[in-house]
Amino acid sequence: MGRVTASAPGKCILFGEHAVVYGQPAVAVAIEQRISVKIETLASDSKNWKIDGMEFNPKRHPHVQALRNRIWQSGQGAPNLSIQITGDIPPASGLGSSAALSVAASAALRTARGRWYNESEGQKTKHWSEGYSSYFDDPGVYSTNKREFDSFRHGDDGKAVRYVAGENTVDVDECALLGHAVEAAAQGGRASPMDASTCAHGGIVLLSDQIETNEQFLYTRRLTTPEGQRLWHLHSIELAPAEEQVYLVIGNTGVYAPTAQQVAKVAEALQENPERIREIETIGLIARRGIQSLKDGDYRAVGRAMTENQIMLQGLGVSCPELETLIRAAAPSSLGAKLTGAGGGGCMVALTTNPKATSEAIELAGGRTLISTFGNVGLTIEESENLPLWATEQDTGSQ
Ligand code: PMV
Repeated sequence: MGRVTASAPGKCILFGEHAVVYGQPAVAVAIEQRISVKIETLASDSKNWKIDGMEFNPKRHPHVQALRNRIWQSGQGAPNLSIQITGDIPPASGLGSSAALSVAASAALRTARGRWYNESEGQKTKHWSEGYSSYFDDPGVYSTNKREFDSFRHGDDGKAVRYVAGENTVDVDECALLGHAVEAAAQGGRASPMDASTCAHGGIVLLSDQIETNEQFLYTRRLTTPEGQRLWHLHSIELAPAEEQVYLVIGNTGVYAPTAQQVAKVAEALQENPERIREIETIGLIARRGIQSLKDGDYRAVGRAMTENQIMLQGLGVSCPELETLIRAAAPSSLGAKLTGAGGGGCMVALTTNPKATSEAIELAGGRTLISTFGNVGLTIEESENLPLWATEQDTGSQ
């Protein structure tokens, strides 16, 4: 039997949550904690997929179901799979566990399936005869109509001439795009691409409403949400080497606060008083300053910007007493601290050169902690054997 294992990191937001929904810049970093997804083919008489040894239930795993619809369609003859999910990212705590799962699963499925190319040489997107990519104006991956995925996505001339399986066929952009699409599908059409792109590319990712000339531009994402069209330009940031090693200590309050509710809270506050858009703009200014400090390797200034960002988030009403207790506890031993993600519960993050002291202080105040360095690697294929798991038919059609 064939198998593939892929993994992807979680993420933590340094600056700009909530304000990014209104076009302000935001920065997320890939953390050390990861999710691994192992897929294996099941015997041909198996009736359904299995996840962690249990019968697959699409309601419990909406991301996996949305991925199946896009690249592993039973209707096209794809074999049933057994999936094992392992890792050390706590679920539903704002650390990107569902995006890491989606991105790792996308990479595993593409490795297992391989793809057809319309050129005899070259792995570039424009040489694919199937797959999803930002290279296409309409990547075709965000549709909510399942039938639209029942055919291959064609590249430039659509004539498939060469089939390749294995990790060489993985494309980070495709996995980030699939990750974003399945997050949006699972969250009622509302998801920024921040999580999926950070988990896929790793390192540090900047989202902005404009293409930033001094950063490495990745791509532009467009999503039609229930409230209208949204657009984000994504970039990768290079860091200057730091004089001393800095760490992120993440403190989990254990308080559950759904992202959608928190986002709606900010929207209501702005509706009641449109003047409050100034607060959102101030978060944008702080984020820009923080980004420059990050690039300069000035972590004391990065920490100060994080603390200022927290004061603005508190003012917006998205912090909570539990988060503030952990942030206060971290303050004496850290360069700066703030909530990370949607707030109202979930996690805070402290920037520190003394992770042991900061972690102990947060734990004493009642939080569960994780320690991470900066800018960890993105999606990785850990192992593969007996590929392909599903060799798709040659597609000879042309567009
Ligand atoms: O709670 P998380 O990690 O999903 O982060 C939400 C970040 C927000 O800015 C509040 C929403 C968004 O879509 O960017």
